[in-house]
Amino acid sequence: MKTTISVIKADVGSVAGHGIAHPALLAKCEEILAKAKEEELLTDYYVTNCGDDTELIMTHKQGEENKEIHELAFNAFMEATAIAKDLKLYGAGQDLLSDTFSGNIKGMGPGVAEMEFKERPSDPVVVFCCDKTEPGAFNLPIFRMFADPFNTAGLVIDPSLHNGYKFEIFDVMEHKKVTMNCPEEMYDALALLGSISRYVIKRVIRKDDNEIAAAISTERLNLMAGSYVGKDDPVAIVRSQSGFPAAGEVVEPFAFPHLVGGWMRGSHNGPLMPVGQKNAYPVRFDGPPRVMALGFQIADGELVGPADMFDDPAYDPARKQAAEIADYMRRHGPFEPHRLPADEMEYTSLPGVMEKLEGRFEDID
Ligand code: F6R
Ligand code: MG
Ligand code: MG
Repeated sequence: MKTTISVIKADVGSVAGHGIAHPALLAKCEEILAKAKEEELLTDYYVTNCGDDTELIMTHKQGEENKEIHELAFNAFMEATAIAKDLKLYGAGQDLLSDTFSGNIKGMGPGVAEMEFKERPSDPVVVFCCDKTEPGAFNLPIFRMFADPFNTAGLVIDPSLHNGYKFEIFDVMEHKKVTMNCPEEMYDALALLGSISRYVIKRVIRKDDNEIAAAISTERLNLMAGSYVGKDDPVAIVRSQSGFPAAGEVVEPFAFPHLVGGWMRGSHNGPLMPVGQKNAYPVRFDGPPRVMALGFQIADGELVGPADMFDDPAYDPARKQAAEIADYMRRHGPFEPHRLPADEMEYTSLPGVMEKLEGRFEDID
């Protein structure tokens, strides 16, 4: 019997402004998932938040894209939204694009990462949750975990990883996908993956036996809704050890706080700061963007853990560096490359400015 892990997340309201999900929202989701566990729809669950996003980490036997599981998550977010509205939380229900469930939560606002696998004798899994950034923020760290020998020693010295991994890459603009093999097609893959707002890693698969290794949420809420309705803060599930990167290789890429799009008004580049749960609360200029890592052992579907993996003093230098980069980037104010290029901004006054200036532009001789 296979186990499925579904991580489904949405921002349905926060304190103060787009800060942190209110505990009452998490408590409501807990209550609903507890009932689903009692009724044996879920095997286990863990409810958490990263900043203003509420994350439902669920295990079950229903497989990926299961209607009942998606509906359960949708209903939990709907009920949490009702509380958020009562408390007049900021952005109450902001990620729910519809109030009626239509069979699959994808396309309805929430972000989804899911994978199904047959449990190994011991199966460590790391769930990453981000706030104030976009799915492409995972391109660099996921690539490094599964294809960069300077990050993952196992790619070189462990025969069970040595053959490499396949990357399923989504073009989120054209709604197309392509699968590329690493290391053979590494340079071609990087030619795509460097464009983080367009090409995003959706899945990583072990080449030896097609075993699923990682799954990432790739929803782009702003594209789905047609107009800006909030940032599509991503989540990822990564399996580790015995044929996959070791847990320490999985979290290693985040020791470098790389620049990602998001931050204030979803319109700025800033460093991705790795944080323990207690600091998953972006404040300064609504950021800088955060990522947390929760480690679990999966035991017959039970979620044993979590271990709060970035709550480690070895990540203090990365946090310090991220804070320094945040200072440096902020000093650019409204200038690129702190502010995103015009076509990537989620707020823009440019059309209005251009309208006002109509007739005032003259040809340059
Ligand atoms: C970024 C984010 C925040 C808001 C900002 C303005 O993803 O959520 O930075 O964009 O606080 O929010 P509004 O327009 O709701 O006042
Ligand atoms: Mg919000
Ligand atoms: Mg958020």
